Amino acid sequence: MCGIVGYIGSKDAYPILINGLKRLEYRGYDSAGVALISEGFNVQKVKGKVVDLEVLGVSQSKAGTIGMGHTRWATHGEPNEINAHPHISFRGHFTLVHNGIIENYSSIRKHLLTRGIEFLGETDTEVLVNLIEHLYLEGDLTAEQAVQMACHKVSGAYGIVVACKNEPDQLIAARKGSPLVIGVGDGEYYLASDATPLIEHTNNVIYMNDDDVAIIRRDELVLRTLKSDKLQPKVTELDMSIGEIDKEGFDFFMLKEIFEQPRSIQDTFRGRVLSDLSGIQLGGLLEVLPRLYKAPRIIITACGTSWHAGLVGEYFFEEFARVPVEVEYSSEFRYRNPILNGQDIVIAISQSGETADTLAAIRLAKERGSTVLGICNVVGSSIPRETDAGVYTHAGPEIGVASTKAFTAQVTVLFMMAMLVGRNNGNLSQEKFEALIRELVNIPDKMRKVLEKEQDIMKLAEIYKDAPNALYLGRGVFFPVALEGALKLKEISYIHAEGYPAAEMKHGPIALVDENMPIVVVATKDQTIDKVTSNIQEIKARKGKVIAIVSEGDTEITAIADHTIEVPETFPEFSVLLGVVPLQLFAYHVAVLRGCDVDQPRNLAKSVTVE
Ligand code: G6P
Repeated sequence: MCGIVGYIGSKDAYPILINGLKRLEYRGYDSAGVALISEGFNVQKVKGKVVDLEVLGVSQSKAGTIGMGHTRWATHGEPNEINAHPHISFRGHFTLVHNGIIENYSSIRKHLLTRGIEFLGETDTEVLVNLIEHLYLEGDLTAEQAVQMACHKVSGAYGIVVACKNEPDQLIAARKGSPLVIGVGDGEYYLASDATPLIEHTNNVIYMNDDDVAIIRRDELVLRTLKSDKLQPKVTELDMSIGEIDKEGFDFFMLKEIFEQPRSIQDTFRGRVLSDLSGIQLGGLLEVLPRLYKAPRIIITACGTSWHAGLVGEYFFEEFARVPVEVEYSSEFRYRNPILNGQDIVIAISQSGETADTLAAIRLAKERGSTVLGICNVVGSSIPRETDAGVYTHAGPEIGVASTKAFTAQVTVLFMMAMLVGRNNGNLSQEKFEALIRELVNIPDKMRKVLEKEQDIMKLAEIYKDAPNALYLGRGVFFPVALEGALKLKEISYIHAEGYPAAEMKHGPIALVDENMPIVVVATKDQTIDKVTSNIQEIKARKGKVIAIVSEGDTEITAIADHTIEVPETFPEFSVLLGVVPLQLFAYHVAVLRGCDVDQPRNLAKSVTVE
């Protein structure tokens, strides 16, 4: 949700900013801009993507060793050049880039209008930069003081980088609710919404916390709280390599990430599954394990694909640990009056660790006395820092907007957590526990076999690429897989797709079934397989086209479905990991055949830091 970059040092800022924006483009991509700060502000902005900004830059001056850049996901005001960032204040003293939403912008705007300030566009950000300037001029303040005071006056979320014309050798950064990371170089500093643009410059980063303000000069970084208390910056070493954020020969990040899954799952359980396969160790949970083992109830909260992983987790906890689980959309949970107590465990799942609604749900649960655990992918992001304990998924950076490897890593973590609880509360025998671990270790190889089916899946994509609608069905633990398959297809190919519990189809979606309707059924072996077979018969009786994901060696469903994709046999819980891969590949190839921008689907953003 908007990407911010900044640079101050002795190198040319422009290429650093452009490159950084490209790395962050997955956060938003409807308009982009840079400001170079030397003798005044040189602001260049366009409606469109960072490549369009580069085209504009060809005919512009690029001089300057200080600058900031922005790639936008519109909240207030349509995507156009005027609403693009950086914004310059009315009297020209300040320029600013912003990620987040200023909720009280309307009343501030009205006040500023009465003071003779004129606005060019409709954004909340233009209000913020003008508020800073107004306070600066009226109060005869320093730039730092004006930024601090403005931050006190606004409500909502922001990550901002600000420059002042009269104090040209510094950048000011502030954060509340929207992430900002400072990269520490030698006589230079970098700023970004996340660490991906920094890794090619430095391994040393400082994660800003809410209500931090940083005054950054070439040779000095001063970090303070909004109340002006000086802070000691905590430098963290990044554990990320440049290769992890490159496409490495794949056409799209999404395809690279789909193919990375055998490795990423392995990374998720590596070092956590004991070498003799007799146990699991989740270091990040050590302190809370006694509470987790005794929890009378678990509430899982998340958004999007992470919510689907949560639904899978519900089956795992019920099956292995016999603990009641509720799975909540964070955006709903945060505005309800949920009944929580000190013994409940809340698990927040998030790839980015920055989703605004999930953060708010965590804060609510903590207020109500629950222990909150996080399952996150991005190390050092806000959610791991706000939760009581947690487990990193270790899937590596996920850049494609449609989540793939983060989902399978989240499912793997939930699986390990549920098994741990089950074994400790006596609901999972040591024998079954060890059998499950032995199979978990085999899953990466089995997944490689599924990936070998890509050509077959491409053929299916060719057949169904023009379908206006698609239905995805699954039962039990495969119902969330169906939801996830439908989400993948709709978000990247724009085909309307719905996920449904297979038997519920009779209560509505069956009315849509005709000879043009592809229906993807996750029909791998479990105790409901006969029922699912009957559901497929019901579809075939109405001439629907069935693509079934089946277990290797299946003959019954293969005889009635129009197409089948086999996945290796395993425990049903692991069939989630194997069964979702053909659905990811199907969505990917349909989208490619339809000419869609797979990594940057329209209107979506990878990290939703606004509510
Ligand atoms: C956005 C992304 C999804 C993601 C969801 C939740 O919608 O496009 O891929 O599943 O946010 O994000 P999180 O980072 O909290 O998992």
